Amino acid sequence: MTYLHLKNITKSFGNFVANDNISISIAAGSVHAILGENGAGKTTLMNILSGLYQPDSGQIYLEDKPIKISSPGVAINYGIGMIHQHFMLVPTLTVTENIILGNSGKFNLNLNTKSAEISAMAKAYNLEIPVSSKVADLPIGIQQRVEILKVLYRQAKILILDEPTAVLTPAEVHSLLNILRKLAANNHTIIFISHKLEEVMNICDTVTILRRGKVIDTIKTSATTTHKLAEMMVGREVNLVSNKIAAKKGKIILEVKNIEVKNDRGLSTVNNLSFQLHSGEILGVAGVDGNGQRELADAINGLRFVEKGNIEFVDNLKVGYIPEDRQKMGLIMNFSIARNLILKLFRFLPFCRYGFLQSGAINNHGKKAIEKFDIRASHPQLKVNQLSGGNQQKIILARELSGKPTLIVAMQPTRGLDIGATEYVQQALLAQKQQGAAILYISTELEEVMAMSDRIAIIYEGKFVDILDAATATVEEIGLLMTSGKKQLIP
Ligand SMILES: Nc1ncnc2c1ncn2[C@@H]1O[C@H](COP(=O)(O)OP(=O)(O)OP(=O)(O)O)[C@@H](O)[C@H]1O
Ligand SMILES: [Mg+2]
Repeated sequence: MTYLHLKNITKSFGNFVANDNISISIAAGSVHAILGENGAGKTTLMNILSGLYQPDSGQIYLEDKPIKISSPGVAINYGIGMIHQHFMLVPTLTVTENIILGNSGKFNLNLNTKSAEISAMAKAYNLEIPVSSKVADLPIGIQQRVEILKVLYRQAKILILDEPTAVLTPAEVHSLLNILRKLAANNHTIIFISHKLEEVMNICDTVTILRRGKVIDTIKTSATTTHKLAEMMVGREVNLVSNKIAAKKGKIILEVKNIEVKNDRGLSTVNNLSFQLHSGEILGVAGVDGNGQRELADAINGLRFVEKGNIEFVDNLKVGYIPEDRQKMGLIMNFSIARNLILKLFRFLPFCRYGFLQSGAINNHGKKAIEKFDIRASHPQLKVNQLSGGNQQKIILARELSGKPTLIVAMQPTRGLDIGATEYVQQALLAQKQQGAAILYISTELEEVMAMSDRIAIIYEGKFVDILDAATATVEEIGLLMTSGKKQLIP
């Protein structure tokens, strides 16, 4: 039975059509994926469903009745709840406080009773959550459960999750998928967005593929393959496994000697860590999130104080840094694409002449990058906060890989990117390596590290516990080192 029906939904921004006559039927109790390239219009459509945007035309039906979702409050009254990717929780409040916050109808301040009620509810949904803890003290995976519980508390029957797994560790992904399965079995309807095709095949019943704002098809996952899905998304063959390019390993570009680095809370999260990185080489850093990767990357880029030891670079170093948090560190969100692309060059010709910014040259540069990096944007004057997540990442890449960096520090460089863009970024990094760049490739995706690297360092509790040759290293060996710091479990 069609439970939720979107009919001929169209939404434009200026003269750009983000959703073009979209029709989708979603069955009650199903897990329905929305798949599509960066900028295909997925988030826009979900924002319409959750009342954040109004469509220009089209109609939404719930159980065959036409409805108008004029605000997020109205959406939740219809039982539609969105779990946002950038969580909207208040970090200084407890789980219970966050869940009852803004739920004015039922508000009474007996926190103990509320806590017990919410705790029982969490258990009933198999969501393990310490309800009295402060949200700031919880790992991302648990914060996400709080977001889920928050919409369930408001009696949502339809849950929308926009790239929920992009920020999770593999273990957290596993438990999220289990939770979603159970919710669906309890007749909740799940709308699931992800760029990871295995996840879609694994958990979804049905999948709708969007391309450039239009529906390409809606099919059962049991009747397709990851390969076919990829082709439908991109509209051409994609090469999912990146081919390694051999390059000549050259001189040492970076040498890190016994460094200690602290995190924001003053704890030493990098400890006694050493390695050398050569020109023409990709050193992958594999590890579970939170083992010191962030602090290491920051320290190499001079953004964090090195307490002990030292970092030595080759002369005439030019660094390209792809930071993990693109919105906070990589971009100025309310600047245009064109301006973000010249953040490092704005003092130089041709972008600046006699102290004045040259808008013509800046715009031209922007136009070229949009073409070269296939950034889905109508023009270079568009503000970066109007771009889709994946296209924001492409702006950083376009800026950091232009010129000729001698050292590239790439942290989760493909997070949030679609298959085509992932392929593009990986090829671009391999090309940089071939031209002699030294690359530190930090990622929590083990497969990706294995496919890209010449050597693989495993980071565990702030140290490189081993550095292996990628040609001979096995998944099992690396997995064990990542989770226990040891090569073998002692029986
Ligand atoms: N407020 C806005 N103003 C102008 N253009 C916008 C706005 N919001 C979205 N767009 C454009 O609409 C298109 C679709 O964006 P949307 O965020 O829906 O993509 P997406 O499919 O979610 O992509 P991703 O996988 O990268 O998250 C993009 O080209 C984006 O630049
Ligand atoms: Mg999106």
